[in-house]
Parts: sequence; C-alpha cells; structure tokens
Amino acid sequence: MIRGGIPLCGTLTAAGSKNAALPILAATLLTDAACQLHRVPSLRDVSTMLMLLSSLGARIQRGEQGPVTVVSESVTQHRAPYDLVKTMRASVLVLGPLLARYGQAEVSFPGGCAIGSRPVDLHIRALEAMGAHIEIQGGYLVAAAPNGLHGTEFEFDTVTVGGTENALMAASLAQGSTVLKNVAREPEVTDLVCFLMTMGAEIEGVGSDTLTIHGKSSLRGGTYAIMPDRIEVGTYLVAAAATRGSVRIEGVSSSVLGVIIDKLREAGADIREGDDWIELDMKGGRPRAVDIVTAPYPGFPTDMQAQFTAMNAVAEGTATVRETIFENRLMQAHEMKRMGADIVIEGDTAQTTGLLALQGAPVMASDLRASASLVIAGLVAAGESRIDRIYHIDRGYEDIEGKLQSLGADIRRENRSSMVQ
Ligand code: EPZ
Repeated sequence: MIRGGIPLCGTLTAAGSKNAALPILAATLLTDAACQLHRVPSLRDVSTMLMLLSSLGARIQRGEQGPVTVVSESVTQHRAPYDLVKTMRASVLVLGPLLARYGQAEVSFPGGCAIGSRPVDLHIRALEAMGAHIEIQGGYLVAAAPNGLHGTEFEFDTVTVGGTENALMAASLAQGSTVLKNVAREPEVTDLVCFLMTMGAEIEGVGSDTLTIHGKSSLRGGTYAIMPDRIEVGTYLVAAAATRGSVRIEGVSSSVLGVIIDKLREAGADIREGDDWIELDMKGGRPRAVDIVTAPYPGFPTDMQAQFTAMNAVAEGTATVRETIFENRLMQAHEMKRMGADIVIEGDTAQTTGLLALQGAPVMASDLRASASLVIAGLVAAGESRIDRIYHIDRGYEDIEGKLQSLGADIRRENRSSMVQ
C-alpha cells in the first residue's frame, strides 16, 4: 500500500546483484571444493537457487548476514525438478555446470513467463557444439556428455545472457579450448567470469564480444564478493528522480550503471559520483521525459525500461520507450494507464506524455521489473495505491518497503506471509 507525493530523501546501501549471484551460485557445482560468497542478496530467487543446489546434494551454509558457503562435493542428483524450475527460469543455469562436472543433467524445460517465450535454444546449441546430446523428454531437457565436453567454436545468433553463462561454465571444464562469439557483455556475465577465474578457469577476452576459454580438468573453490545490483540501484535512483528527491547510494560504482546515469542526467538530475557511491539530487525540480531504446549491454538495459516509463509518466514533455529484447514487456504501461497515465502503446513502443501526478489506484504486478515500476508510479500518485501480486517484487528486491520507508516513503506491506523466509 503506497500513499504518493513524498520526495525520496536519504541514503541506501546497494545489495548484491541477483543476476550475478544466480549464475555464480550455479558455478559452485563445477568444483567439489568449498566456495564462500559474500554479498549474496536475500531474495526469493536466491533462496530458490540455494534450494535447487541443496536438492542436488550440495551442502549450503548461510549465516544471517554473513557469507554463503557452498560445497558440491556430495552432489549425487543431476535433476532440476519442475516445481523449482517453474518458479525461476534461471534454474536452467545448472545445466552447463552439471553437464561439465558429471556428464549428465536433467532440467525441467523452463517455460515462458509474462514477458515472453524465453526460449533456451541457444543454450542447447552451444552445449551440443561442445559434444552434449540434449533431448526433450516429458517436459525435461535430458542432457548427456558420456565422453565429456570438448572445446569448440560457437557463435550466438542472438546475444543471450543465460546462454553465454551456461556455455561459459561448461567450457571451463571442457577438454581443449572454446571460442564463444557474440557473447553477452552484461556486467553480471563479467562477474561470473571473474568468479570462474578465481576458481582457476582460464578465460580470455573479458568484456569483449568474444570469449576464449581454455578448459581445465578441475577447478578449485574460492572466496568471492558478488558485484552490487545495478538494476536495484537504478530503480531507486529513478524513484528519487520521479519523486523530485535526493538520494545517496553507497557500495556501488557508477561505472556499472553506464547509460542509466546518462539518461538520468538527460532527465535533469544532478548526479555526483565517488569510487563506491552515487548521489542524485533533483533540487526539487520535475524530471524531463527521456527516450529509451533497450539493447544488450552496453546499451540501455531492458530491466530498467519499466522504471523509466513510470518516471516519464510524471515528467515534463513526451517521450517514447521501445523494448527490443522481449516480446511482451510493456504490460506495466497498461496498469499505469489505470492510474491516469497518458501512455499510448503501439507494438514495442510506449509513448508517454507526462502529467503532474498520477491518481492512486489498485494495480497488479506482472513481472519483477514491472512491479518495481508500479511502486514508483504509486510513489508519484496522489492518494493511495494498492499493488497486488508483490511476490514478483520479492524475487529481485531486498526489503523494498523497508528501503523506501528509510527514504521517507509512505509504504507498507499487508499480509506479510509473502516475505522471503
Ligand atoms: C537475463 O535473462 C536476466 N536474468 C534478465 O533479467 C534480463 O532481462 C535478460 O538477461 C536480458 O538482459 C538473469 O540474469 C537471471 P537472455 P535471460 O537470454 O538470460 C532470446 C530480471 O528482471 N533468447 O539474454 O533469460 C530471448 O528470447 C530478469 O532480473 C533466445 O532466443 O535473457 C530474449 O529475446 C528478467 N534463445 C533475448 O534472447 C535463447 O536460447 C535475451 O534473452 C536464449 C535467449
């Protein structure tokens, strides 16, 4: 429940990145030695991944706020069950590591989700190029590499974060060298590469669109600190801009935020950056609407377009947001129209003309970032808004109402049963 109209002011600390933590947790399957991970965020999706690793036989230790330690020495299962995969598609990231380490894997075929069909054909083709045999049987991807995986040269038709990560993890234990072309360059992929190198993997081309991995016969354990979550940070910066506030976020370098910072400056935000902090100040001014076209990194991240749509809804002027990555990721615009937003949706583009404020209304979240954008819409709406299905939010945002309350927002959660256990 949110009562809008209050500028956000105060200081936050960035949490660890969900989209770096998930592949890095999957990568712990590549060794039987202990891996100690710091700054693992407390999120529903992370709990799901830890449950999945545990169901495979890995031993997990997780302190309250301390590091997560994973030991995969006693992994005996190689099957990622449907009831886990259906709640989180990223479970498919155990496919590459299980194949590389044990020569076999069964992963429930990840279905689509609200934002699109989310195929995994490129994951499969990359692993087949390394010698895996993968079939779909009874809704499961059944994969085998009886003679182990071997090096290959593979080019991705489409830039895919998960596909790059699965191939990268598999290649790190393959016999010989693998050249992966047209790979995803998101900072979270680079974080996975850095973790793999901590484990002894030999990888060249970090940050470029071609990665060369010289396979090892085994990898060691390691200690690693997950990078900060650039999408969480971006979300709070956009919320501050939309509400004409002033926030400081610590524990993050603006270098991973890239074009998000450029777009916030274009919207009129005064931004100052330090080695590990960012300050945004609207000086009480109304943001200007900004045009967005999503693209693979270093382009504008698709995970931030919904949040900017919410800001555009109360900004000065008219702007368009175009989603080029997923086929159905503008649903939040329909919900914002119920709050009075002046948005015209045509195909992959939402054109918004900013109003001075939205009107509070009951709305429904459809996916993780859409729900975050509806929270921002609630923060800039007159009166009270009610957002249903906020379990989507808990998948990717640690204690969102606590963090927003600490910035002065009038927000509360009803029916606490949906909190992360
Ligand atoms: C990752 O999803 C992120 N999730 C997503 O964040 C993010 O939106 C997405 O990358 C794009 O940046 C995690 O990292 C856990 P893709 P992923 O494979 O890997 C097509 C969030 O909000 N494609 O890069 O599933 C696909 O259909 C989530 O945290 C194929 O065609 O995304 C899409 O159009 C949402 N075949 C495009 O590539 C494949 O085999 C990009 O998808 C794989 C993908």
